Amino acid sequence: MAIIFDEKNKTFNLDTGISSYILKIYDGGYLLNLYYGKKIPESCISGFDTRPRNASFAPYDKEIGNGDFSPDSAPIEYGADGAGDFRISAIKIKNSNGDSVTDIRYKSHKIYKGKPTIKDMPATFATEDEATTLEITTIDEVTSMEVVLVYTVFENTGVLTKSVKIKNNSSKVAFIERAFSICNDFPTMKYDLISLYGRHAFERDIERRPLAHGVQGVESNCGISSHRQNPFVALVAPNADEDHGDAYGFNLVYSGSFSALVECDYNNSSRLIMGINPNGFTWKLSPNETFYTPEAVCVYSPDGIGEMSRIFHRFYNKHLIRGRYKTEKRPVLVNSWEAAYFDINSEKLLDFARAAKEIGIEMLVMDDGWFGRRNDDTTSLGDWYVNKQKFPDGLTPFIDQVHEIGLKFGIWFEPEMISPDSDLFREHPDMCVHVDGREPKLGRNQYVLDVSRADVRDIVWAQMDAVLSANKIDYLKWDFNRYISDASSVQLPPDQKKEFLHRFILGTYDLMDRLTTKYPDILFENCSGGGGRFDPAMLYYSPQIWTSDNTDAIARLSIQFGTSLCYPASVMGAHVSDHPRTSYGTKADVALWGSFGYELDIRKLNEEQKTEFKGHIAQFHKYYDLIHYGDLYRVISPFERGDKVAWEFVSQDKSQVLLTVVCIEGKVPENFILKMKGLDENAYYKDEESGEIYSGAQLMYVGMNISYQVNGTYGSKKWYFTKVDK
Ligand code: DGJ
Repeated sequence: MAIIFDEKNKTFNLDTGISSYILKIYDGGYLLNLYYGKKIPESCISGFDTRPRNASFAPYDKEIGNGDFSPDSAPIEYGADGAGDFRISAIKIKNSNGDSVTDIRYKSHKIYKGKPTIKDMPATFATEDEATTLEITTIDEVTSMEVVLVYTVFENTGVLTKSVKIKNNSSKVAFIERAFSICNDFPTMKYDLISLYGRHAFERDIERRPLAHGVQGVESNCGISSHRQNPFVALVAPNADEDHGDAYGFNLVYSGSFSALVECDYNNSSRLIMGINPNGFTWKLSPNETFYTPEAVCVYSPDGIGEMSRIFHRFYNKHLIRGRYKTEKRPVLVNSWEAAYFDINSEKLLDFARAAKEIGIEMLVMDDGWFGRRNDDTTSLGDWYVNKQKFPDGLTPFIDQVHEIGLKFGIWFEPEMISPDSDLFREHPDMCVHVDGREPKLGRNQYVLDVSRADVRDIVWAQMDAVLSANKIDYLKWDFNRYISDASSVQLPPDQKKEFLHRFILGTYDLMDRLTTKYPDILFENCSGGGGRFDPAMLYYSPQIWTSDNTDAIARLSIQFGTSLCYPASVMGAHVSDHPRTSYGTKADVALWGSFGYELDIRKLNEEQKTEFKGHIAQFHKYYDLIHYGDLYRVISPFERGDKVAWEFVSQDKSQVLLTVVCIEGKVPENFILKMKGLDENAYYKDEESGEIYSGAQLMYVGMNISYQVNGTYGSKKWYFTKVDK
């Protein structure tokens, strides 16, 4: 059993196989977090219940302990606002009488096999044999507010998930002003905080800083998870690197504005909270209603940041990605966007399809520009019916012809948006997100559609469903090209206006749920101006996400390295484009680290290029399983700002290895030794190209001398090794 309750000591031990997470029901029903870290056998740890409480300034409870105990210094499991804990709180409720004091204490618990779903929200999943869940019910006796902390341990994975349910058991209305998904107290502040910041076309750059006293962290206020900060943070030991040291990773399964904060207090301890951003959020909770937070995924690795990432990767491939394409090979696609932008029509796209078929591409994706009067980005979002000038016979004969050519067919939508110049807006101007009396701001010439409203969702759904049900569509790219300003819904009363942003995201999930339920065979790719909504909630619906609009292979190295901190190769859309900086060879080597495809005018290839592209596609097929389901080792990071970058995929049984090296800056050859990672040191590996056989130990500890092998600026090279008997 992965979760054990020690009745005598009143402790819970949550054992993920790699980590232990130990909770204690302390005097007075305070729930304390005694330990989170490398697996230990004990469940009772003494001496960690309290911390110095600093004379009279930290409030204490005269009934509890020997006067040593203060909620302000104890490792409180879920810190609440107003009752003596001055650190950043995980929960703040405005009670019916107007105060904001919450004091929750243990009431009961239950432990059961499997994992519950979360109402109206995506979440990771498991069978009864794969996971065990603990629900601890706490209660504020004065307000009758019940807070249920839900923990699921995934057996032998290193993964623990957390979420919270807040139920109003009183007879009066209350308002939740903050409800975080996790609150984790660490006894020390000797950690570095790692986060992924960025902007459009420059997503998920890695930033690392030591913790300091006070509050620090990252947030999105954009209405979506955003390019600017990803809902992922890690706390790692100061000396931790890819292969050594404690690394804790936290990832929120949520696509809206989020907040991930760490406070280091006067005791040099630290508290991490992560969840819905309280800025712009208040939720009215009427009697008997329950509010559900999104889930957070918590990973611990004693073996460095690289292993933390691999734990996330294996976990998401198994417990988050769903549907047919979880295991089935995804088609190599060509997307029309960078080749044609809005200038598409049936003839041109059929020419694309024929040219694509000739070299082994398996799917044509018709990106933006096929609907309404969409010839640029100023019009037609919301008018999801075919543009008859571009497709005179309609979509069906065109799509049928693509299939006759032998390709699958993909289409683009941006369902949560509305153009001011659209039939939908002219008919229903109130359906755009806005505040009455204010002109809403534009982003990419468009407004946001109020999908928090069920009637609006029904209109969009009817339009999408008409297209999808009338045609054989194999793939759908779901885009989102601006952030949400003027956040409000005309349908919400004043005391619920601040529910809007969360309700918007729930509306999006509802649409995505309808789509994936009715069309389970469609391969669904998420996108938000590239990777502006690259989060696990979107991965629950779409097994891949367009990683970035930046298709320059060199820029992609940092984007893909940063993204890989938390997300597996299988989910990263990566295409070969016509970006001029590198050769197609380097572009293909970089794009193979992901869901592979092309983004260029495929009609223009000469014979030599066609042969080269056929070679890329053969490699895609050959290495598909290794890349999609193998373990990633980041060997030389672009963030080291050196002249080479390298990464490896190692199959789970360590019998195959693909090493890729990219040269950022060519120089007069210098002695360059590359030490591989993750191999079986007792096994032998054959280099496919040279036929040479090396021991795993030699490749890892002596290394390979690649001084002359990848030396031209922006060049790349791959090595493929297979395990052999000596
Ligand atoms: C932004 C996406 O990131 C692009 O790939 C493309 O789909 C455009 N939107 C279309 O408008």
